Amino acid sequence: MQKPLVIAIDGPAGAGKSTLGALLANRLGYLYFDTGVMYRALTLAALQSGIDLAASDAVERLAQQIVIEVIPPSADDGRQYTVLADGTDVTWAIRSPEVECGVSTVARYPGVRREMIRQQQAIGHRNRVVMVGRDIGTVVMPDAALKIYLEATLDERARRRADEREHHDDSRPLDEIRSAMALRDTMDQHVLRPADDAVILKNDGLSPEAEVNWIIDFIGRSGSGEAHSLIPPR
Ligand code: DC
Repeated sequence: MQKPLVIAIDGPAGAGKSTLGALLANRLGYLYFDTGVMYRALTLAALQSGIDLAASDAVERLAQQIVIEVIPPSADDGRQYTVLADGTDVTWAIRSPEVECGVSTVARYPGVRREMIRQQQAIGHRNRVVMVGRDIGTVVMPDAALKIYLEATLDERARRRADEREHHDDSRPLDEIRSAMALRDTMDQHVLRPADDAVILKNDGLSPEAEVNWIIDFIGRSGSGEAHSLIPPR
């Protein structure tokens, strides 16, 4: 396979998409774009404006107005990028439990998805990019030359999310994080499915470095049109 211009990484919350996406983008010299931050930034802005998240019209209107930018890291505090919402740095604020609880509701609204997808496609068509989300391989960039769908057990995903707590101002115990994640899996079901031509990677117990090496090796081994024969069994 030629180095693909767009690499799509999809999968459920906590499957390790962000870690893998950032590492892979770094190794390939590509832009790294975590599309979930857009839904999160919109959710935060709605909460801060006192908009009831159940009011789809108001949230959809806000989606049309808000300017969300993802730029290179502006602080050395463990962030992979900086997220600006109407010019304000919301990089860590979008990881709060309040946003975590509300974001699936916001991400279900068709008017929100239309607007976010439009902006994501504009970025995807302009760059060599590793794009991370839920529906990148199926909807946002269906022509992506390489699509990866990450899977890990709920226990493993909850453990990983718990390990990130210190950054997120999150004091919930592990079992609460696990329940919240199970709920989010249910809420995200409507978009969460691998593309027919996605490589499925189950990564319990696999280090991000091992995953990246496997993918780089996969790209190297796959002649154009041969990708299917190398897809690991589901
Ligand atoms: O990946 P994340 O946890 O930051 O995603 C936040 C929410 O946004 C999650 O509930 C699913 C939704 N999302 C989506 O519907 N489509 C995407 N491409 C990315 C995220």
